[in-house]
Order: sequence, then structure tokens, then C-alpha cells
Amino acid sequence: MLDEEGFEELAKSDFLHVAENTWRVLNVLSNGVQTGGITKIAKSVIGPLAEHNVSVLMLSTYQTDYILVREEDLPMVFHTLLGELNIYKEENGDLVPILIDESDSVKTRNLFGLTVHPVQSPENKFCILTLDRDTLPSISTIILEVLFYSHISPRDSPVTSHDTESFHFFAFSLIDGYISIVMDTETKKKFPADLLLTSSSGELWRMVRIGGQPLGFDECGIVAQIAGPLANSDMSAYYISTFNFDHVLVPEDDVSCVIELLNKRQANNS
Ligand code: ARG
Repeated sequence: MLDEEGFEELAKSDFLHVAENTWRVLNVLSNGVQTGGITKIAKSVIGPLAEHNVSVLMLSTYQTDYILVREEDLPMVFHTLLGELNIYKEENGDLVPILIDESDSVKTRNLFGLTVHPVQSPENKFCILTLDRDTLPSISTIILEVLFYSHISPRDSPVTSHDTESFHFFAFSLIDGYISIVMDTETKKKFPADLLLTSSSGELWRMVRIGGQPLGFDECGIVAQIAGPLANSDMSAYYISTFNFDHVLVPEDDVSCVIELLNKRQANNS
């Protein structure tokens, strides 16, 4: 995911697959402070958008959660959320309130009976970290190594089920000057211990990957069917959508409970 300026800088290549549409970014503040974890915005934002057929992409970071929606869906997004929330657009660093006329009514749909996507949970444990921007140059070569070179497995190694195997996942984001990294505990050992910062509790997370086939960009309600049950059970969770699949990070002690909850989702819907 990158902004238009960054995209312009990329060398054009036939090998680069680009999702159609321009996406716009939403971020939720509660009392002026950025929220952390998708379950806090499940009821107020994720659920209502899904009920109004808005497809989203989620990007949780160490600092907050970003919700990407298609530019053409913005009127519907405003219509859906303006009852509950104040919405501002950022213009040259200023926040300008968005007003919309509420005259036309829009139908909502029931989220019951959504396509249930299979979930898998790899064995490895993950950390959600941040880094002082000034120390980035000192670990950039390690980042490049783990991003591009460390997951290459020998071609002839046997193909095994992802379910119990550990799973290569490394997410780096630099948004508005803030760095966020999600990596597994094995990968973390490659970094100098003193530079990576995490919350004082230093908890570890397990991952649940959503989707057997690539999920595409049109379907809505995928995030909602995960965030809803987790919010009902009061669990914290981070959510990262990628080009093909969605990924949820939950506290390691909760993972079996989460899998159970999500399997119930399967039973309820069939
Ligand atoms: N659009 C889905 C939703 O509204 C989530 C994103 C799934 N697609 C993906 N390529 N990761 O719930």
C-alpha cells in the first residue's frame, strides 16, 4: 500500500499487479486519541460499513488502525458514519468537518449468511513493534534481508500444511513518520534487541489467516465477521489486509478461544 506520490516513483513493470480503484484512508480518534485494535471500532465503524456494502482494507499498526475504502464509496461511508461520528478531512494539516445532507435513505443489509472464509493458524508467535525513526538506518539492511531474502526456501522442500507450520509473515509500515513492524519471534532475533520498542507488557501474538483462495477487493463483510465476534468476547486484535489474504493477530493465550469462536461462525452460517 502506498500513496499516489510513491506510486509515481515506482518503475512501471508488467510484473506488478495493482488493485483497481483509488483507496482513501480513515482513522478513528476517540477523545482526540488514536484507537488501537480493531475490536474497539468493530461496532461503530467496521460493522456499519459492511452493512452498507462498503468493501474495506484494514491496516493495523503499532500506533493505530487504518481503514481503507474506495474513493467512490466515500459518500456512502460518510452517510453511514455521520450519525455516530464526526468526520473531518485533512486539508493542509487542518481538520475540516464534513457535512452531508441526510435526506436520502440507504438500505442496509443483514450480515447473516456471508461467505465464510476458512481460517488457519500457524504455530509461530509474533511481536508488534515500533522503532524510533532515527534508528531506522541502522537496521535497514536487516529489514531488507528479512523482507526479500530470508523466506526463500529450497524449491524441492516438501510442501506441508500451513496449519501447524510456522508461517513467514513480516509487515513493515512507515506512516506519517511512525514505524510499525510485525514479525515472528525467530525473525526478531536477527535484530539488535535494544532498538525495537514494544508495549511494557511485551505480549506475544498468534496469527489467524483468513481465506483459502485470494480474497480479492470487492467482497465486503470479511473483516466484520471476524471483528464482530472478537469484540463481543472483548478480545483485542490487530488486523492486516494484504493483496491476497487477511490476517488477524490475537494475544497468544486467546488463540484457541478465537479459533473456536470463528468455527462457530462456520456452524451458524451453514
Ligand atoms: N474487503 C474485505 C472486507 O470488506 C476485506 C479485504 C479482503 N481482501 C484482501 N485482499 N485482503 O471485509
